[in-house]
Amino acid sequence: MGNHAISFREVRKTYPDGTTAVDDLTLDVPEGSLTVFVGPSGCGKTTSLRMINRMVEPTAGTVEVNGQDVSTVPEAQLRRSMGYVMQASGLLPHRTVVENISTVPRLLGQSKRAARERAEELLETIGLDRGLGGRYPSQLSGGQQQRVGVARALAADPPVLLMDEPFSAVDPVVRADLQRELLDLKQRLNKTIVFVTHDMDEAVLLGDRVAVFARGGRLAQYASPEKILREPADQFVSDFVGRDRGFRALSFDTHDIPLSGVLTVDGQGHTAEVGGPAGVTDWVLEVNSAGQPVGWVTSTQSAEITDQAHRVGGSLHHPGGSLRSALDAALSSPSGLAVAVDDDGRLLGVLRPQDVLEAIDKVRESRQ
Ligand SMILES: Nc1ncnc2c1ncn2[C@@H]1O[C@H](COP(=O)(O)OP(=O)(O)O)[C@@H](O)[C@H]1O
Ligand SMILES: [Mg+2]
Repeated sequence: MGNHAISFREVRKTYPDGTTAVDDLTLDVPEGSLTVFVGPSGCGKTTSLRMINRMVEPTAGTVEVNGQDVSTVPEAQLRRSMGYVMQASGLLPHRTVVENISTVPRLLGQSKRAARERAEELLETIGLDRGLGGRYPSQLSGGQQQRVGVARALAADPPVLLMDEPFSAVDPVVRADLQRELLDLKQRLNKTIVFVTHDMDEAVLLGDRVAVFARGGRLAQYASPEKILREPADQFVSDFVGRDRGFRALSFDTHDIPLSGVLTVDGQGHTAEVGGPAGVTDWVLEVNSAGQPVGWVTSTQSAEITDQAHRVGGSLHHPGGSLRSALDAALSSPSGLAVAVDDDGRLLGVLRPQDVLEAIDKVRESRQ
């Protein structure tokens, strides 16, 4: 199978609109390791990940896998050697679980029967009952869908697994289950895994090595989790680590945070303010016909450009939820505004980061 280390050599990515998403990234992912890219939203984690399988091409520098410049490897061949798991499971809605998992093996020429057997085996590998194989994605919980997404990525037994915030959209209890499962998989399957998250706790839990990204696509530190916690390389890392460790303790605290208004746009281009008057901001939230948030757009960028980059963020806030969930929602949102929804997923308004931090400070003060 060879060596599947991944190397970034002085890699830069500037998008056509002039945004530099990744700036001079040089980093080695050892073969067989689980390496985490962590940092706040917009700091180039997804862009870096996608340069590994050529979903994004670098503007400068090279990405190598197994010592080979990936730009010289045909895309189809490259992607066959890399499983890819996204935040939204990306399952095909009109295919059953088994059909979803078997798609790639079938494309690779496996018989229907062999692909089906493999799919059922994989269901067990990722902790699901074989009996779920005949269901459609909509008949599964969010956590089960993410597991199927992982099974699908593993189906062709690729040596490299790329995971982009795969567990962000599921609730904390299920997330903990999925994290345990991944650690277990890592022991059993010898794969080189690159895992993206905005959650420092998750990074520390899962990573053999952790790369902390800062705004502008700068690599702030790349080291073992212990080293990052004990000796943060600079103020940015220490703020990021400190803030995150501080709010682990907030998991169970709830506190009312005032809702603020946000400007929305629907598929027909109609705008409205939801949750009150929208403050001055470049960000507009796209909603669907049911009033559920779809993604952020900026007044200067068209929805097409931002399609993938500015999805609404993994973590939505439910009023009455914990401060941790509110901060998580703000941190995972490209606009920095936490999106608040009701039990049916309909937009209620947003939480401004300053209001979230103020609520956290109040709770901290009341403890002292
Ligand atoms: N297709 C694109 N066109 C223009 N800008 C983009 C595109 N994709 C990402 N960006 C911008 O590049 C920066 C890094 O984005 P991304 O890699 O998605 O960060 P992260 O995954 O850390 O949130 C952000 O400023 C984002 O707005
Ligand atoms: Mg991302």
